[in-house]
This record gives sequence, C-alpha cells and structure tokens, in this order.
Amino acid sequence: MHWPEKVLIREVGPRDGLQNEAAFVPTAVKVQLLAALAGAGVKAIEATSFVHPRAVPQLRDAEAVMEGLDRLFMRGNDGVKSPAAPVISALTGNMRGLERAVRAGVKEVVAVVSASEAHNRANMHMSVEASLRQVREMGAAAAAGGVRLRGAVATAFGCPYQGDIAPGLVAGVVEGMLQAGVDEITLADTAGLGNPRQVYDLVTLLASCYPRVTWALHFHDNRGLALANCVTGLQAGVRILEGSVAGLGGCPFIPGAAGNAATEDLVYMLHRMGIDTGIDLDALAGCAGLLEEHLGRKICRNRV
Ligand code: COA
Ligand code: ZN
Repeated sequence: MHWPEKVLIREVGPRDGLQNEAAFVPTAVKVQLLAALAGAGVKAIEATSFVHPRAVPQLRDAEAVMEGLDRLFMRGNDGVKSPAAPVISALTGNMRGLERAVRAGVKEVVAVVSASEAHNRANMHMSVEASLRQVREMGAAAAAGGVRLRGAVATAFGCPYQGDIAPGLVAGVVEGMLQAGVDEITLADTAGLGNPRQVYDLVTLLASCYPRVTWALHFHDNRGLALANCVTGLQAGVRILEGSVAGLGGCPFIPGAAGNAATEDLVYMLHRMGIDTGIDLDALAGCAGLLEEHLGRKICRNRV
C-alpha cells in the first residue's frame, strides 16, 4: 500500500457543522471561527450556504459572512497567521443560490444533488433530474462569471428514506455534474450509513469510470465508522477529505443524523500516519474552544 505524503483537509464545520445548530451563531463569531481555522493552517473551507433561509435559518447571513471574510483576507487581519488565504467555498442547490453566491464574491461554489430521489425531494424540493438541470444551468453561469463549480453527491452511501443506494444512482449524478463542467466531486455519506468496504468499492469503481474527476470524501459518524471510511478512501486513491471541527454537523433533513468526522481526529490520525495536512493540531483545538464558548455546551474533544 502506498500512502500519500499529504492530504488536503477541507473544513466544513462553518457550513455543515453550524447548519444543524438551532441557536443562531452571530456573524462575527462565524467570521472569527473562519479566521481561526485559516490561522490553524486549514487550506480549504466551506464557509456557508446560499440556500433558502427558511430551510437553514442558521446560515441566513451567508452574504454577511462573505463580506466579513472579504475584509479579513483581502485587506489583511492580524488574527490570520497564515500568509495564504484558504480556498473559500459555499454550498447551494439551485440557480438562485448560485446567483447570490456570485454576487457575494464567492469564487468556488458547491452544487449538491442527492443520489437518493427521496432525500433530494426532502432536501431540495425537486427531483434528482430537476436538480441536475439546475446544475447544468449553474455550470454555464459559473463559467461565465469566472467561478469554479464543484459537485457534491449527498446520500452516496445510503439513504434513511430510500435504503441502499446502488452505485448506478451515484454515477447518474456524477454524469450530470460532468455535463455541467464540474471536475471535482465529493461523495458524501450524509446519513452516516457507509462502511469501509463499500467506500473502497464505490471509489475504485467511479475512479475507473471517470478517471478525470478529482474525488473528495465526506463522512458522518453515526456508527464510529467515519475514520475507517476515510482510511479506505485513501487506500482507494482519494486525496481530499472533509471534516468538521469538533465533529459538529448533520443534515437538517435527516432526523438524528450525526456530525461529520471531527477534523481534529482526522488530522491527528493522518499526522500519526506520517501524512501531512499543513494544519496545526493545537490551533485547531483552539477553534473548537472558540465555538464552545458561544454554543454554551461542551464540544471540545477530550485529550490526554
Ligand atoms: N436562496 C434564497 N431564496 C431562495 C433560494 C435560495 N437559494 N432558492 C429559492 N429561493 C426563494 C425563491 O426566490 C422563492 O421566493 P419567493 O417565495 O419570495 O418568490 C422561494 O424561495 C420559493 O422558491 P422555490 O424554487 O419554490 O423553492 P422551494 O421552496 O421549493 O425550496 C430550495 C427549494 C432548494 C431553495 C430549498 O429547498 C433549499 O434551500 N434547500 C437547501 C437545503 C439544505 O441546505 N440542506 C443542507 C445541505 S445539503
Ligand atoms: Zn454533511
């Protein structure tokens, strides 16, 4: 087995982590968290979502968050130690969201479509086919606006509404995204139902069918399998893994969905395996501490 020398960690806590928090986290705290993550050496961050504010009230301040980030990275800020600003992305599910994101100055937008028809209807209020039509429109608009569009396939490893997800359903969404000009796709285990063998098999199958795609993986940790799934993803050749600070997160449209793989645990594991992430683990723990103060409950992971 050939282990990679380095892996890109994409932090999704500010988006996936916070979207499941009922109490509104003030915009200034979100921006402070983003600054701290950048300062810890995180190179890629999903900062917010441009979705309907009724669907995800926590992220109704997406424009204001981007404004705060603009001030932080474009005009300099002492709180950010890293000289290079991270790649900031934002999620959306329709054209309206893409237009909002482009207006707000987002340079990388994530289009999410579920492999499960039932989940897509619950999450996006449309069929998978209708979502893919939106993604094709988004691809054209993003290209015209000089914005990068990447893709995320939700419920790629199983759906609580629909059950097992056949690889062909995932491939159908991947094909639709490729038609939209997407070149990087995250396979997301939105409900935390995947297992390591399934991850290995699906990634190797898709990578052989679509060799030009860059793959990323995103696991929720319902049964403690998220890190095991990350490891088999690496074995299958994936070099981008998503995590959420303190393991926060969950899909509001999947009752009881657990949080993401905790970025701290992921980074700890990779560093112990001799794989570089460029992230300072102590500074990352500080990011969880910052959020803990505002959420008013313990989220920091125990350390010995
Ligand atoms: N941002 C803000 N407003 C939006 C919007 C967006 N991205 N998309 C649609 N709207 C507005 C429309 O303009 C319309 O406004 P109006 O009532 O003032 O005319 C209204 O929402 C209804 O539009 P419609 O297209 O019928 O949307 P919908 O009510 O069927 O909702 C989505 C569809 C996709 C907008 C909504 O389901 C959504 O935002 N889902 C995201 C869920 C999510 O983030 N899940 C977690 C991440 S995977
Ligand atoms: Zn998620």
